[in-house]
Amino acid sequence: MKELGGKVAVVTGGGSGIGRELALACAREGMKVVIADIDEPGMAETAKLTNAATMAVRCNVSKADEVESLAARVYEAHGAAHLLFNNAGVSVAGPTWTTTLHDWEWCMGINLMGVVHGIRSFVPRMLQQGGEAHVVSTASAAGTLSVPGSSVYCVSKHGVVTMSECLHHELRIVKSQIGVSVLCPAFVPTGIADSHRNRPAELADTNPLAAPYAAWAKKAVEKGKISAPEVAAMTLQAVKEDRFYIFTHPHTRDAIEVRMQDLLQQRHPTNPTPSKTSGENL
Ligand SMILES: NC(=O)c1ccc[n+]([C@@H]2O[C@H](COP(=O)([O-])OP(=O)(O)OC[C@H]3O[C@@H](n4cnc5c(N)ncnc54)[C@H](O)[C@@H]3O)[C@@H](O)[C@H]2O)c1
Repeated sequence: MKELGGKVAVVTGGGSGIGRELALACAREGMKVVIADIDEPGMAETAKLTNAATMAVRCNVSKADEVESLAARVYEAHGAAHLLFNNAGVSVAGPTWTTTLHDWEWCMGINLMGVVHGIRSFVPRMLQQGGEAHVVSTASAAGTLSVPGSSVYCVSKHGVVTMSECLHHELRIVKSQIGVSVLCPAFVPTGIADSHRNRPAELADTNPLAAPYAAWAKKAVEKGKISAPEVAAMTLQAVKEDRFYIFTHPHTRDAIEVRMQDLLQQRHPTNPTPSKTSGENL
């Protein structure tokens, strides 16, 4: 989709981090922006920063009915949606064998089912409206690698990558003009390592061995060399060029190559984060 001006963008997780910067970048392109999040003060701050008539909708993306209401409100207000960012996400940490069922339910509910709900509620409407549109789902470098202490997060993000690849094929088969991209950043300084701030009380049971892995991830996120505004700019450029895979960090592809060679040569998987397991505290 080359021309974005005047079109409608919907950004989930628009109250913070990458989602906020995607909303700002879309507003700068002259788009009408709708942000959706469970963090209402965060959305108010984003709306203020866009300096435009941004519509903010409280929406828990893990709930199908709330995403369906979001889509209904977008079409009621604007009559169309051209650019959907399935971006809301959370992270949990810790070894797989002590991961709690609440960890699985919470993280998969948002990271994976949030994207499922976005596609189910928006793509049929986009197909009906006709013309160009684009769906960008935020996965992660963790959607292409297997990172120790991050199995729930990796499973959810691998799911987003393969779901996006399937969606791309299916939309080509029906000759639709809806493009698809999957955003795979590595570490970006945002609120992601403090995701528990939004964790509901009924899913509060956390992995008892999370702490050292969570501390490692927090440090890595804080030290991330690519900023959220840079990620947003790269993402909009990719949409304009209709590029499917959006890798924002140059080293991700080296690690993918190693993983693919592990698979093809049927050798044991290489740890993509060796520094994480060399510490005595893990
Ligand atoms: N920051 C990184 O290092 C990094 C790397 C790779 C991928 N990602 C992905 O980028 C996306 C954006 O995360 P971020 O880094 O900007 O983190 P962030 O915490 O700054 O922003 C995430 C936003 O999602 C919202 N959210 C959480 N639960 C929600 C729910 N149930 N419904 C609706 N909104 C909800 C939060 O309120 C927050 O505003 C996520 O999918 C994340 O997994 C981040």
